[in-house]
Parts: sequence; structure tokens; C-alpha cells
Amino acid sequence: MSEKVTMRVKPNGSIRVTGTVEFVDGDGNVIETKTDFSLCRCGHSKEKPMCDGSHREAGFQAE
Ligand code: FES
Repeated sequence: MSEKVTMRVKPNGSIRVTGTVEFVDGDGNVIETKTDFSLCRCGHSKEKPMCDGSHREAGFQAE
């Protein structure tokens, strides 16, 4: 039985991913992740595709 993965959109912030996923970039390289990480959706992270907290300083507002 596979583990259920949860992706939770944080208000005015990242997308929190919880669970074991295979995360592959546009070149087919596997990006190592923990079982709990956050994806940037504001475009301001210096660690894309991961969130580095820059959305707070940038004042990101989700539509
Ligand atoms: S959502 Fe956190 S840095 Fe972009």
C-alpha cells in the first residue's frame, strides 16, 4: 500500500508537500527531498523550486 502524499497550499505562501515523492526536474534529474518540504509559488525564492521563506519579505499575496 502506498503512502498518501499531501500537498497543502499555504495562505500567501508555499505549497507544503508531506509524504514520499519522486521529484524530477525538467532535465530528468531526481531532486532529493525529505518527506516534508515546501515548494515556492511566489517566484522570489533563491532556492527554487524550494521555498526559502522569501515570500514573507516580498509580501507575496495569493490571488
Ligand atoms: S513561496 Fe516561499 S519563497 Fe516563494
